Amino acid sequence: MRVLGIETSCDETGIALFDSEQGLLADALFSQVEMHIEHGGVVPELASRDHVRRLLPLVDQVLAEADLSARDVDAIAYTAGPGLVGALMVGAATAHGLAWAWQVPVLGVHHMEGHLLAPMLEEERPEFPFAALLVSGGHTQLVAVHALGHYELLGESVDDAAGEAFDKAARMLSLPYPGGPHIARLAEQGNPDRFRFPRPMTDRPGLDFSFSGLKTHTLTTIRALEAQNALDDQTRADVARAFEDAVADTLVIKCRRALDQTGLKRLVVAGGVSANQRLRQRLDAALEKRGARAFYPRGRFCTDNGAMIAYVGTQRLMAGERDGQAMLATPRWPLSELTPPARRQD
Ligand code: KG4
Ligand code: ZN
Repeated sequence: MRVLGIETSCDETGIALFDSEQGLLADALFSQVEMHIEHGGVVPELASRDHVRRLLPLVDQVLAEADLSARDVDAIAYTAGPGLVGALMVGAATAHGLAWAWQVPVLGVHHMEGHLLAPMLEEERPEFPFAALLVSGGHTQLVAVHALGHYELLGESVDDAAGEAFDKAARMLSLPYPGGPHIARLAEQGNPDRFRFPRPMTDRPGLDFSFSGLKTHTLTTIRALEAQNALDDQTRADVARAFEDAVADTLVIKCRRALDQTGLKRLVVAGGVSANQRLRQRLDAALEKRGARAFYPRGRFCTDNGAMIAYVGTQRLMAGERDGQAMLATPRWPLSELTPPARRQD
């Protein structure tokens, strides 16, 4: 089965073609980052309008890259949530329009299930069951993945997501949006011994996260340095390093705990923040000591993309799941509400 995947939940338009026999045939992405940069974050209305402009040309591009035509597409999968409602609507309307025109089945899929299974696009893929750390701009969750669609929430952030914390810390240091990669780059020059930031909620049991205290600590540190006229380039790098170390350590401590608690030996790390190299190095080292192993998506599939949506869609469509004619756009949608693929008829 050959599935066209459509991702429009936030500020990237992602289109891909996945074949159940041959794997990923083509994928294309248009990032709106440049457009949102001057606003310091994603402007939902601008995001929706840009998805309208980019979607169909990207579909053509992906078909051309795979040397296929619309007739070769067996089904369409699109991100039905969670995300920005206007942006989701553009993807849903396009998916349903194409499915109707091409007379193929269509299925709305969960964006975070896409992130969760993105490592399945790699050659070395984890077998079920595994634990997963989902770290994106909107989510920080630890999940026990028993099977496709069988997800048990082990812990999550009680306030900011890890990516959101990166973005806010970046703004405090006058770095552009999205902040994660900029903090990581600046932290390269930083001295790890200059500041030590708190590792929130690691001193008590449990698998929940909280990043708002760390955010406040970062702001207080920056304000104090500014008041002393001491926020020079080296100091900014030192702050970035202390912040990145604190987030990475916190995530590693909770992942170790999740593996101990569940007895699982495989950990998937996905979502935008999983691109962070310091996090990867520390996780790999911590897991090796336990005889466990981490699986990551390749760099460009850590952040939003169409390939992960095409992949999840293929798995569910192959199991007979499909939607009726109603377009689905669900801005809030807990991952734990998902169920294994089912033959749906409505
Ligand atoms: O998964 P994603 O592309 O979009 C959401 O679904 O939220 O994640 C975006 C988030 C942003 O907050 C961005 O700052 C963060 O991922 N991010 C990173 C890195 N690359 C992206 N955070 C830390 N280090 C990185 N290298
Ligand atoms: Zn995402």
